Amino acid sequence: MTPIDRPRRSALYLPASNAKALAKARTLPCDVVILDLEDAVAPEAKEEARAAAVAAIAQGGFGHREVAIRVNGLDTEWGAADLAAVAGSKADAVLVPKVNGPQDIDRLQDALSGAPEAMQLWAMIETCASVFALEPIAAKARSTRLSLWIMGLNDLAKEMRAQSVPERTPFLPFLSMAVAAARAHGVTVLDGVCNEFRDLGVFEAEARQGLLFGFDGKSLIHPAQIEPCNTVFSPSEADLGWAASVIAAFALPENKGKGAIKVDGKMTELLHLEQARRLVAVAEQIAASV
Ligand code: COA
Ligand code: MG
Repeated sequence: MTPIDRPRRSALYLPASNAKALAKARTLPCDVVILDLEDAVAPEAKEEARAAAVAAIAQGGFGHREVAIRVNGLDTEWGAADLAAVAGSKADAVLVPKVNGPQDIDRLQDALSGAPEAMQLWAMIETCASVFALEPIAAKARSTRLSLWIMGLNDLAKEMRAQSVPERTPFLPFLSMAVAAARAHGVTVLDGVCNEFRDLGVFEAEARQGLLFGFDGKSLIHPAQIEPCNTVFSPSEADLGWAASVIAAFALPENKGKGAIKVDGKMTELLHLEQARRLVAVAEQIAASV
């Protein structure tokens, strides 16, 4: 079985300039914390936010949570200094916005040459150019620090001049293509944010849609979204019940050596056995991660 990545069900953004949110993030049940220097931070506060993000990581206290810093784009006046500051920190990852193609990953890889070996490169998929280069971008994961993508549907909507509706109709082709490209090269892939943070019903429906498409988790903007997100992206009791039946059925002496059997009235193949084992392994990883 392919090794299971650590859980990345819930990735909470917060403006690195918001000291209260920084303190609170250390207590929240999210798998990933993203200290934002980009869209959530006003131009006047960029330098202060950069210093606060680096200081927060040096101070620690994030426990089992992975911590990433989202830098400003390399073509902005802050990008190079942001990247240098993250490279000199103990962040688990640097998240880079507005990646357009594989050449950007090469540039970032070079810019991170002095960063700790374990530091990962994460990329936002949020430009019109990037959706036509999904596979070549993902392929860079084989030779660079690239390991994870996050969909940025607010920026994609802006560039496309598309409207944001709960069904997310304008973006559905990109969501499936992004998941397929990511899977082709072993990249973890997280869904975009739901701006509606007061109505958790709307949030949960969108999270379930992301699960349906195959995402590993979802990016979040508010603490209230964490628990429902973790629930959606954890194997359910029903999933684990199914997995146990499939594993038990294939273990029966009469099914030894068979490729396709009947479980609960349904055709079940060895590929389902692999899926069942994966679900169990994911549940074990989640249990071990808290
Ligand atoms: N991370 C950590 N803590 C957060 C948080 C976040 N993303 N969003 C809110 N909180 C905290 C608040 O500080 C407040 O803490 P308190 O209970 O100790 O006072 C509590 O959660 C409740 O916040 P609430 O009043 O409901 O929200 P708000 O009106 O203060 O903020 C937003 C709303 C949208 C401005 C805020 O959630 C936010 O900044 N989200 C992230 C935005 C972002 O990073 N965007 C970039 C990526 S799309
Ligand atoms: Mg953005």
